This record gives sequence, structure tokens and C-alpha cells, in this order.
Amino acid sequence: MTGRPAAEFGPVGDAEAQRANRGDWDREADEYQREHGDFLGNAGFVWSPEGVDEADVRLLGDVRGRRVLEIGCGAAQCSRWLRAEGASSIGIDLSFRQLQHSRRLDDETAIVVPTACATATGLPFPDDCFDLACSAFGALPFIVDVAAALGEVSRVLEPGGRFVFSVTHPMRQVVPDEPDGEQSLHIVRSYFDRSAYVELDDDGVVSYVEPHHTLGDWIGAIAATGLVLTSLLEPEWPVGHTRGWGAWGPGRGAYLPGTAIFSTTLPTVRS
Ligand SMILES: C[S@@+](CC[C@H](N)C(=O)[O-])C[C@H]1O[C@@H](n2cnc3c(N)ncnc32)[C@H](O)[C@@H]1O
Repeated sequence: MTGRPAAEFGPVGDAEAQRANRGDWDREADEYQREHGDFLGNAGFVWSPEGVDEADVRLLGDVRGRRVLEIGCGAAQCSRWLRAEGASSIGIDLSFRQLQHSRRLDDETAIVVPTACATATGLPFPDDCFDLACSAFGALPFIVDVAAALGEVSRVLEPGGRFVFSVTHPMRQVVPDEPDGEQSLHIVRSYFDRSAYVELDDDGVVSYVEPHHTLGDWIGAIAATGLVLTSLLEPEWPVGHTRGWGAWGPGRGAYLPGTAIFSTTLPTVRS
């Protein structure tokens, strides 16, 4: 959120959040890819600003031959890594401009990822058609109705399938945007206040939304959709990793988690 216009906190509905965020990601996609493309790698799978790399952590397990859905894929770098590992991966994203960057990377890498412009709360796929699903800060940090999105993932996953996703750690809500200044560890908001971070344009129209869900909210939503939580990774900021990313940086990263990575499975028999 660093460097963005002044904002307020308040209630916002899921439809309004999605409308606003689609426009914001279309506007910001070029700058996002310019700023973070090298760090992500054209065919890399980075889970978070801490640099957690799927090549090291293997949260998805063996992906060879697996049908994988990437949610909020952006330029689909993760799906490209998955394809290079032998998976059959496809991506969806709300932002058409992000998907145009995916097309660009198709040409640059000769690894072609099929994509669809769609929302995580209405996946354009039949039931039980993926073995795995993943999301690296895609969609879920921007969705108000996370139970709807998790329900969709649960629907399209084959029983026994796995869904792993990274999101902004809920503790991020309580501290300021600036990750490394003197104030970076000061508590400025209540962890329990579910108000969303909301930006307004010059006409007062909502132009960007980041909802807040506590850890308990996430775990409750996971359980409500029939998924089973198997691990929660709160990556530490690696010593010597100096590259910050917006509100994520080494200063605060030494004390507080900035990312939560949830690993879940769908039981072989649906509940
Ligand atoms: C921080 S980017 C992450 C993209 C990619 N995973 C990466 O690591 O670069 C978040 C992505 O989520 C997408 N997104 C936001 N809300 C979404 C929604 N409701 N459904 C699908 N995608 C969404 C945005 O368009 C954006 O491309």
C-alpha cells in the first residue's frame, strides 16, 4: 500500500471491491510487472516478498502430470514454472491487462499458459476438474467474501486435491504502511477491526480495496468450505534479503510476519 493515495477504512461489499480492484489492477499492471518482474522470474514460483520459492518448499508436492489451477495469476509466472515442472497448469485473473502480460511472457519464454479473465468467486470450470490449486497473493487478499472464493476452489478440486495460497498476514493490518521507519512497529489499528482499506478516486468513487480477515476468519472460512488446513507457514524475513516490496521489508520483517501461506486439502470424501 506504500506510495498510494490517502485512504480510509470502512465497510465495502464484495461486488464493489471486485469492480474497483479490476480497474486498479488494469491501471497498475504495467508498473507492477516492471517493478517486480525480475524478482518473480518469467517462469518462477515465488510465494511472497520474503522470497519463499516453491522450488525449495514444495508446498504443492510433486506436480508432474497434475492439473493445476492458478488463481489471481497475474502474468502467470507460477503457472509457467509449473508447466516447466511437467504440470498442466492454467491461470485465471480478474485483470485483462495482467493477462496481456501473461501473453507477453508466453512469447518471451515459449512456455504457453492458457488463461481466462474471471473472478475467483465464480470460477468458469466444472466440478472436480483440478488436482491442485494455488495462489500467490492472487485474488484472495482482495476479496471480501473469502468463503465464496474458497467454496469455488473446493468445488473445482478433485476430492483429495490440494489448495495452497499466500495472503497478506493479518498482523499487517495493525501497523503502518512504512515497513522500515521508526514507526513501523507501532500499532495503529485494531487487529479485530474488520474494516477494509479503501481508496477513493477524485470523484469519491471506491478505486481500490484490501479487506481485512483475522487468522481466525481465514481458518473458519477454510473449515466452512470443507477444506482441511494442513499447515500455516509464516515466513521469517531471510537474513541478507534486502529487497523490500511495498509494506514488506527487512526492518519490520525481523519482528512480525508479513505473509501467511495456508496449505489445505480436500478430503477424499466430501463432507
Ligand atoms: C499481487 S497480484 C499477484 C499476481 C501473481 N500471483 C504474482 O505473484 O505476481 C494479485 C492479482 O490478483 C488479481 N485479482 C484481484 N482480485 C481478483 C479476483 N476477485 N479474482 C481473480 N483475480 C483477482 C489481480 O488482478 C492481480 O493480478
